Amino acid sequence: MAHGSAKIAKAEGKLGVLLPGLGAVSSTFIAGVYSVLRGDSRPFGSVTQMGTTRLGKRTEHRRPLIKEIVPLTRLEQLVFGGWDIFPDNVYQAALKAGVLDRTLVDSLKKELSAIRPMKAVFDRRYVKKLDGPNVKQGRTKMDLALGLVDDIERFRKEHRCSRVVTIWCASTEAFQKKARVHQSLKAFESGLKRNDPDISPSQVYAYAALLTGSPYVNGSPNLSCDIPAIVELAHEKHLPIGGKDFKTGQTLMKTIIAPGLKARMLGLHGWFSTNILGNRDGEVLDDPASFKTKEESKLSVLDTILQPDLYPELYGKINHKVRIEYYPPRGDNKEGWDNIDIFGWLGYPMQIKVNFLCRDSILAAPVVLDLALFMDLAHRAGMGGIQEWLSFYFKSPMSAPGLYPEHDLFIQQTKLKNTLRHLAGEELITHLGWEYYKRDYEQPN
Ligand SMILES: NC(=O)c1ccc[n+]([C@@H]2O[C@H](COP(=O)([O-])OP(=O)(O)OC[C@H]3O[C@@H](n4cnc5c(N)ncnc54)[C@H](O)[C@@H]3O)[C@@H](O)[C@H]2O)c1
Repeated sequence: MAHGSAKIAKAEGKLGVLLPGLGAVSSTFIAGVYSVLRGDSRPFGSVTQMGTTRLGKRTEHRRPLIKEIVPLTRLEQLVFGGWDIFPDNVYQAALKAGVLDRTLVDSLKKELSAIRPMKAVFDRRYVKKLDGPNVKQGRTKMDLALGLVDDIERFRKEHRCSRVVTIWCASTEAFQKKARVHQSLKAFESGLKRNDPDISPSQVYAYAALLTGSPYVNGSPNLSCDIPAIVELAHEKHLPIGGKDFKTGQTLMKTIIAPGLKARMLGLHGWFSTNILGNRDGEVLDDPASFKTKEESKLSVLDTILQPDLYPELYGKINHKVRIEYYPPRGDNKEGWDNIDIFGWLGYPMQIKVNFLCRDSILAAPVVLDLALFMDLAHRAGMGGIQEWLSFYFKSPMSAPGLYPEHDLFIQQTKLKNTLRHLAGEELITHLGWEYYKRDYEQPN
């Protein structure tokens, strides 16, 4: 066994969680952790806080909490910080986002007001719908990156953090394809120095975070760390990275339903998804360039789950459409509709309709928490580079070059749990279960 808990560094001291983007998701996450710590709420939706995992044979009845088998940082060890283009502190940001009840937010006013955003690295070309005053000035993108490095180091000292993780929770950037400047660390660093327009702000954050020794996660669909240059830096520094796009809402439902249809060899003619939302994320996505980034991330899901190349008769001609409509009256309370046209035995058509009245940030907040704690675990376990075992949390998971990403939530869950068993030095579970039926299955000689 390469790992085993003895080889994982202890979760001692404080863990700084730094968030580029202190908007709806970040403020809901931070306020939620404080509320849980005070004993006022429960961390529903968080696998690190609520999840158990089976160890050994079913007859052993071992079902410990995940946080009992691997050394995770505890909630009381977390400290929060971040950057935003608006100067609002997290208390103000939580009120503006309107996700949590005012009484809950007011009860945390002291803690939340103390978290003020550092000056952001921002470029309107990547987010056309927003503009704000709390922005860093610098001659080159390298200067801006070094400014972020200073921010992280200052935060680390001020809060006496043993470790830091950085999680991009800022707005979705305009769609971009990987360019030459993204292909190697050398090209990227020279691009930073000559202000290459193909380097987006989220890539500057990713670079800066890794320079300081912090793992980096991308919660949005834009490329950010999903470029060879940043992957190379993560290898070089042996630091974990992960992305893209938190898996919540409609896509979460898609990756729950689609594997079920495929498991039973039910065919699919089409899947039409539309949703309305009225938060700032929705406003940013109202710009076609930002929406295209999101659309690509949402569309890729079905193909990899259904494998149309293997099952052309069932999934070869799917009409898959995704729409997002910005509709301010809804705020963060998104409503999604899915119309799924399926077919079964002898080709007879059937329909499934899903009407999901979800709360985006309520679904995303525990994902941020789990990713912070699991990335920190990976770091202490000496696991650098792409953390594919955390695909469970992403709409568009990163994977090793040449390897297709795994989208099926249940395969992702099995991978997550087996990775935790492996880290804990426990046997992996194959679910074969032969041993319980040995007498019946094995022929007498
Ligand atoms: N809520 C979900 O379920 C969910 C799911 C998947 C992905 N996401 C992604 O998470 C991100 C955050 O979502 P949200 O609802 O909190 O959005 P939000 O608009 O409330 O917050 C984003 C914040 O980022 C700030 N920002 C923009 N560019 C920045 C930059 N360069 N540096 C620092 N700050 C910057 C904005 O000012 C804003 O306050 C979005 O990209 C969204 O697509 C959210």
